[in-house]
Amino acid sequence: MISLPKIFFYGVVALLGLNAPSMATPSAASIGRAIFQDTNLSRPKGQACISCHDPNHAFADPRQISPGATPNIKGTRNAPSLMYAALIPPMAYDDFFLPDGSEAFAWEGGLSHDGRAQDLFQQVQEPFFNPKEMNLPGPKALASELRKSTYAPEFRKWVGNKAWQDDEKLNYFAYRSLVEFLKEPFFRPFDSRFDAYQNGDEEILTKTEKRGLEIFKTTAACADCHFLHAKSWTAPLLSDFGYDNLGAPSFGAKDPGLFAVTKDPEDLGKFKAPSLRNIELTAPYMHNGSIPTLREVLEFYNVRDLQPPRWPKTDYPETVNHDDMGDLGLSEQEIDELLAFLKTLSDRSLLKKPKDQLFPKAPAGVPSSLNRKLYFPDWTHRLHPAFPGD
Ligand code: HEC
Ligand code: HEC
Repeated sequence: MISLPKIFFYGVVALLGLNAPSMATPSAASIGRAIFQDTNLSRPKGQACISCHDPNHAFADPRQISPGATPNIKGTRNAPSLMYAALIPPMAYDDFFLPDGSEAFAWEGGLSHDGRAQDLFQQVQEPFFNPKEMNLPGPKALASELRKSTYAPEFRKWVGNKAWQDDEKLNYFAYRSLVEFLKEPFFRPFDSRFDAYQNGDEEILTKTEKRGLEIFKTTAACADCHFLHAKSWTAPLLSDFGYDNLGAPSFGAKDPGLFAVTKDPEDLGKFKAPSLRNIELTAPYMHNGSIPTLREVLEFYNVRDLQPPRWPKTDYPETVNHDDMGDLGLSEQEIDELLAFLKTLSDRSLLKKPKDQLFPKAPAGVPSSLNRKLYFPDWTHRLHPAFPGD
């Protein structure tokens, strides 16, 4: 989380000219954009980031589980949306205060459903070598494909001849460029009808949607985890990025979730609360894609704990959260209102994107990454574009 003193400190550092503006030059992001679509970076060839993070579904995968590059090998989780992913804070064991004033600690932030990637830079490296995803045999193969790519001339110009010859450095810049790409304004347009409402346009939401917002804040207390207040960014991200076991229906092998990272048995089956921005566009839902529709997710929150159970058993019943959900007592009409509200979280720039246009266009006025650099969780004056140690 960025605190004011930190912003001040880095602001001073920036004024002194110790920052690294070249990291945010258009060429870094444009190379990242090319890599994102490059299907030569998998084994067998044919799979790219975009194969599982589909721009027509807010960069999530409409398939329950994304197939890997290798036929018949696939993972166990649903590919999440990449909208606003560059704004997810890094994994940290953060302190917070309970209503009685006592201090408590919880894991927050991190990338992947279980937070196993500390930050975005770590996350973007993984799919290339994951046998269930792009399945490259190793860093050498990645560097050699990058040198043969159609965007090689531009890439070489950006990194310089020395880094171009060095596998480790070349790959480092490939990962950096993906991070810069994921920060592009169209990934963080904040142009949903809900944003317009937050910015003072009271007429833009219908009565039903406004009632849904009230339920989200009060009776259903969704906003306790899917924050409606701005925290690490200037507008709300609709998540605290905390971890919880919601009891999502099982399928296949048990998925330990956060436990795999912390080794704390209390964390078995806990997954990161995602942003609810563009949630209407990213079915199916939950870390394992086990719930097909948004209405069904709301019914799950509302009646999960009623008997007889309507959903199949979950992986780790012992850690399921029964305090905040499972028997909310909402009426059918309240569910409809909540659903109507969730649909106001869709970015209009995504809804407007013609299917044959690859990427959405950011609306006018969305600040550049350079302009907002102090807010990006990965920005520090030490994040030099040079390879570490050079
Ligand atoms: C085979 C499908 C597939 C491919 C290819 C793929 N991803 Fe993913 N991606 C996933 C899945 C599944 C997850 C969730 C991983 C988990 O929780 O274990 C994910 C998670 C992520 C996340 C974390 C989002 C969050 O909210 O925590 C980012 C960022 C990401 N991918 C970026 C990329 C990039 C960049 C590439 C290309 C280098 C890529 N992905 C290639 C399926 C894929
Ligand atoms: C105690 C914290 C908490 C509360 C309260 C909460 N959620 Fe969640 N929410 C989560 C977590 C954690 C996940 C991820 C669970 C998983 O993947 O297994 C999640 C997932 C979701 C998803 C699926 C997201 C996706 O991309 O798959 C939706 C939709 C959702 N929540 C909506 C709501 C609504 C609506 C409410 C109020 C009725 C609510 N949540 C209350 C923590 C919470």
